[in-house]
Amino acid sequence: KRLSKLDSCFQRKLGISTAVTKTDTCNKKDEIEPKDGLKSFHSVQEERIEQAERSVLISCPSKTNENNFLKYLSRHGDINKCFFYESYGTYAVVEFVHKESLASLHQGTAIPTINHEATVPFKSRLLTLRQTGSVEMSSGKSGPLCQPQITIPMKDLILRLSNENSVDQQISSLTEMYQLTEENVCLRFLVCSLLKDIAAAYFPECKIRLFGSSVNGFGKLGCDLDMFLDLDSISGRNLKKLKAGFSLEYQTKRSVSERAVTQSILSVIGECVDQFGPGCVGVQKILQARCPLVRFAHQPSGFQCDLTANNRVAMKSTELLYLYGGLDWRVRCLVFSVRCWARSHSITSSIPGAWISNFSLTVMVLFFLQRRSVPILPTLDYLNKLAGPLDKCVIDGNDCTFVSDMTKIQVQDNTETLEQLLQEFFEFYGTFAFNRMSINIRKGQEQNKSDTSPLHIQNPFDTTLNVSKNVNVTQLERFVAVCRESAWMLQQQEFNAPRTNGDGTRAPWGLAALISPSASQVAKVKSRRAKKREPASERIKSLLESLKNKGKTASV
Ligand code: CTP
Ligand code: MG
Repeated sequence: KRLSKLDSCFQRKLGISTAVTKTDTCNKKDEIEPKDGLKSFHSVQEERIEQAERSVLISCPSKTNENNFLKYLSRHGDINKCFFYESYGTYAVVEFVHKESLASLHQGTAIPTINHEATVPFKSRLLTLRQTGSVEMSSGKSGPLCQPQITIPMKDLILRLSNENSVDQQISSLTEMYQLTEENVCLRFLVCSLLKDIAAAYFPECKIRLFGSSVNGFGKLGCDLDMFLDLDSISGRNLKKLKAGFSLEYQTKRSVSERAVTQSILSVIGECVDQFGPGCVGVQKILQARCPLVRFAHQPSGFQCDLTANNRVAMKSTELLYLYGGLDWRVRCLVFSVRCWARSHSITSSIPGAWISNFSLTVMVLFFLQRRSVPILPTLDYLNKLAGPLDKCVIDGNDCTFVSDMTKIQVQDNTETLEQLLQEFFEFYGTFAFNRMSINIRKGQEQNKSDTSPLHIQNPFDTTLNVSKNVNVTQLERFVAVCRESAWMLQQQEFNAPRTNGDGTRAPWGLAALISPSASQVAKVKSRRAKKREPASERIKSLLESLKNKGKTASV
């Protein structure tokens, strides 16, 4: 069957479709519509980057009158889009129709003079709206409507999910509540663009691209901002020399390796961000990491930012995840649920360490979906075979080629429900032979492990790398224990259908029960008990059996 459908909401979130109405419920299956006209990952990115270059970020008094504000700004040109949000104050993102409007705006904008302090006269697109005299800029009432930029708190989420009537609806709702909003995506690209202005002082032709969960379709409100300083597109690289006659080339500083160049560039850009970048605080240069980076917080947006360079493989894995997420609407739903479930059980953490990462978890979900008896997702090898000449891509000797045109991909007719898939995900990894096998989405099959890491997930584009090298035995065992516990819980009558408390309100059930704190406690106890026994896979299998048997009689 030729794939002819795609999650319309997913397209919209990534800026492909424009028609958004209030009644849209982004994640219902009937929302899937023909994907003719679907743009590739690359063209969506280019479009978003261009939009961001026509935008400014303005700190406003909290009671700014929206109409007056827009009237004031439209003196510089027509405005395409404007929204407000709160983050240490009220901010507005304003997108002009034409880039030229920015020149006009900059002309009338003053560099502040502050008593007893001096300012760096760097003219960025992060501005402050000042209100002088009694001009009617203030609405006098509550101020503009602000768009949320963070997810709802866990306890509210559990309440909302408990009020749904099926596990499938719970999973859809969770996706709807967690996924990035259109406004949040705009803000992400704008922050990236503001940073580009700083880097462009040295490298005017550079691009800063977003990768990771901001653009791969699996981002949750509040996730970090992964950026990549792209210097490859600078003109003059690989310029063909004439066979005879004169030619000119630039004199350049040289260094011992690509890595050393990356480190020195990031060091200087990091310094500029620190010294000149308005709103950028807590800048850390982490240059000795495998992938050197500059980490900082962008206060006006509230984003935690990581800036890397020379990281093209990560860009490719982002594009691959985007493609997989667009092939079937259930992919993103399942990933959001598994990520949320993992966070609620402290299987993942915002602190770096031996925990399983969100990226690893996502690859595990993709692999599981490739392993269904009727596969929901194709293997990377299959996507590689479908690639056209323009898709060809080799990075550091690794073949990173795969098809970018989703319409060429054949998908099979799998009709499993989200509830079935979630249940089976837990059973699949509750009994997976982690001690012997590696997860490989290129082949879509487990392979013998090539090293002794407890969890081995092959990097899809660099087969020598293990995506989850950081994970230790304890963390893997916890993951397995919680998978088995959750598989068991979803089978219990007590948990797999709506239930009410004594006062008539809904008690956590289904997905809500799986992510509620009590479930996490049960799993912790089980994990402690699971220690000091025979090798993992045997233990897992027998425990799963015992849990299933126990499930017939016991209740938690
Ligand atoms: N990445 C990778 N190998 C790793 C870790 C990360 O290739 N071992 C790439 C992936 O493309 C990943 C991106 O770097 O998507 C960003 O990493 P990270 O921020 O850790 O993951 P995200 O997918 O962005 O998820 P999160 O929402 O947790 O930030
Ligand atoms: Mg990230």
